[in-house]
Amino acid sequence: MLPLSQGIHVAMQEISIIQPDDWHIHLRDGAALQQTVADASRYFARAIVMPNLTPPVVNVSQALAYRQRILEQVPAGRQWNPLMTLYLTDNTSRQDILDAHHCDHVYAVKLYPAGATTNSDSGVTDWERLTAVFETMQELGTPLLLHGEVTDSTIDIFDREAEFIERRLQPLLQRFPALKVVLEHITTTEAADFVATAAGNVAATITAHHLLYNRNHMLAGGIRPHYYCLPILKRSRHQQALLSAATSGNPRFFLGTDSAPHARDAKQAACGCAGCYTAYAALELYAEAFAAAGALDKLEGFASRNGPAFYGLPTNDRMLRLQQSTWPAPHNLPLGNDAMVPLRAGETLQWHAELVS
Ligand code: DOR
Ligand code: ZN
Repeated sequence: MLPLSQGIHVAMQEISIIQPDDWHIHLRDGAALQQTVADASRYFARAIVMPNLTPPVVNVSQALAYRQRILEQVPAGRQWNPLMTLYLTDNTSRQDILDAHHCDHVYAVKLYPAGATTNSDSGVTDWERLTAVFETMQELGTPLLLHGEVTDSTIDIFDREAEFIERRLQPLLQRFPALKVVLEHITTTEAADFVATAAGNVAATITAHHLLYNRNHMLAGGIRPHYYCLPILKRSRHQQALLSAATSGNPRFFLGTDSAPHARDAKQAACGCAGCYTAYAALELYAEAFAAAGALDKLEGFASRNGPAFYGLPTNDRMLRLQQSTWPAPHNLPLGNDAMVPLRAGETLQWHAELVS
């Protein structure tokens, strides 16, 4: 209980959890890295770094060079490990997968269906061509990270994830039942149900923004481009299904922010691009969602235990404290020479996170 000046007493919540990791983040490259790496390394220990640069990161030597550019931007005194991924194309070879397996810094391979989202033009158009690649990944235990949306223009944008599960994910797992798969940034009841009942080699990440928001937040009373991401926010009942999954204690669900920076002008445009920037307050946003669901006790599993267990890595040694305390989210953050508008810009955040040991 904290005594306030008027003599009112308000119960402030506080919890400590094992230091978390972010199992899905976009850092971009060049001048953008100063802000994105500073935010990503503030209290996470590790991050799975998405490879959708232009041009994409398609082999180990590019991944190692990119990792070096990232490490140069880590603020002094921080221990933080970027875990790299390769971008799958129609031309990815079995050798590329073997190279990744033998590299200490590459942890997974990301599949974007071509045209599904930001910088996915070089993504996969012909899944049949990748049979040897999937076989090798299954054999070696290399995780396949999926952007789970079909790209068929006749399919409604709100149905693209559910269609992907039927048309792509189920057949893939029938052919490669032991393939390690992460269905990234899930947004629907269908995805949550599929993953909850799938075999242990199938998992999903869930973003903070899909836990906190639904499509009304983006579209009712005006179009708010900073809520636009892919897969797109769905109806409230899907948001509730994601909250149930994240707070269920099921180890198949874990934290992946999908924090994705874009310059303000690229989002506030006639054809605005997809992505929400949450890295500056990721844990604070997740804590808010878990607290609202009355499930703060489930945050440590979701944020700090389930991801390492899936990837076969140790949990972190340090501890992070989350305290209920309000602070104003910045209106803008720098992104190289541009400005970006983070999610929640100018509004109030309810939690504060810091490493304590
Ligand atoms: O909203 C998104 N932004 N979804 C993605 O899949 C990609 C990401 C980005 O790179 O901006
Ligand atoms: Zn992403």
